[in-house]
Amino acid sequence: IVISGKRLIVGINGVKTSDDWRVLGTKITTKLKAIKVKSATINVPKKCQAFVEGLQLGDYEFTYKSEKKKSTLKTINLVSKSNISKTVNKAITAANAQCLTRDWVNTTPEDANSDTIERAVRKMFKGTDIVVDVYGEKELKKLNMNGHLAVNRASRHKAKTIKLTYTPKNFKKHIVAVGKGLTYDSGGLSIKPGNHMTTMKSDKAGAMTVWGLMKYLSKNGSKNKVTVYMGIAENMIDGSAYKPDDVLTMKNGKTVHVKNTDAEGRLVLFDNLCLAQDENKKIDALYSLATLTGAEVYQFGEEAAGLVGFNDKMKKVIQKAGDKAGEIFMDAAFHKYMMDAVDDDLADLSNTGTPNMGCQKAGLFLTKAITKKNKKKFTHIDIAGPAYTKKAWGYNPVGGTGFGVRTLIELVSM
Ligand code: BES
Ligand code: ZN
Ligand code: ZN
Repeated sequence: IVISGKRLIVGINGVKTSDDWRVLGTKITTKLKAIKVKSATINVPKKCQAFVEGLQLGDYEFTYKSEKKKSTLKTINLVSKSNISKTVNKAITAANAQCLTRDWVNTTPEDANSDTIERAVRKMFKGTDIVVDVYGEKELKKLNMNGHLAVNRASRHKAKTIKLTYTPKNFKKHIVAVGKGLTYDSGGLSIKPGNHMTTMKSDKAGAMTVWGLMKYLSKNGSKNKVTVYMGIAENMIDGSAYKPDDVLTMKNGKTVHVKNTDAEGRLVLFDNLCLAQDENKKIDALYSLATLTGAEVYQFGEEAAGLVGFNDKMKKVIQKAGDKAGEIFMDAAFHKYMMDAVDDDLADLSNTGTPNMGCQKAGLFLTKAITKKNKKKFTHIDIAGPAYTKKAWGYNPVGGTGFGVRTLIELVSM
């Protein structure tokens, strides 16, 4: 690194994996900002994507403080013996897409509601290759998305599904992803205790992650067609709130016995997974991304996501993409005694199982929205742990992490 003409050697002894490079990048940017450097020049090798991502991610700031600290760091010049412009471009675009997700996860439930999100999405993709379609409450009703609507019923904001499509010429595969976008999860009538309710502005992370992916595609494209659905709702309480004991008829006709209104994400995702399959007849891979269960956090911790589904090969592909992106995905496997865990005595399904293996059971519930044809194309990704962090770790500051964006980019680039 060169700062004001002075050459600084950075020791890279412990730096081995590409993710180590990413973390180092963030450490360097953080340090440069802390010592109030205006500009620096860094000599980088040809394979510099992870490092440059780290540099850019390290520049992330988000605050509601009335007095904002201004960063003095204006530029980092990258020099190399090789031609790195394409790699650098990709890295910066990926990091910026991830930071969009961080921003919206961090935004308060009042500032990030279904209207402000719709407006921001429309503004971002105006004049780009991304097509925006929004389904309001009238459309959701017509489509029989009664699970999604029930969850949002006590909110003063409107339920919405935002659909984004990227269609390149002569595409080979069509990849579809559905994101949980709970702008707030109070638990509803099955209300969360106070200390569990705090941070539930992050319950929109799944939807914000697929939005981040589309931001990347609007700049850098992909050879595959990609369609994402953001299922936006707010789980609140008033006289019209949906109730434990309700039975809902979902988009595909299945009936769901509501046992706990805090298991709302699976209801929103269920209907949106039905919609995604109805609208797209040929799907090569179908993902759902959601901060779906507290159980996922217990099972896999704050750093890793859980994978649920009937296709082990597909899970391995996601894990490999995760390795490349520096994100960890653990297998939340089924076993045969679990297969009736979301069956109900009154209706077809119950929205809760017994608490054990809650991550798998929530995923199992989602598979009931999947048609036979798509059974092996579907994997659910529970990001409840890694989407939001109360302590800084790796290249993540406190708050929304943007976890999943870079792995999705890898997945749609294959
Ligand atoms: N949004 C929560 C899951 C969550 C918890 C995400 C903690 C991130 C951190 C979800 O809607 C929820 O409340 N799930 C319940 C389900 C239960 C009632 C079956 C849970 O996990 O406790
Ligand atoms: Zn909940
Ligand atoms: Zn939730």
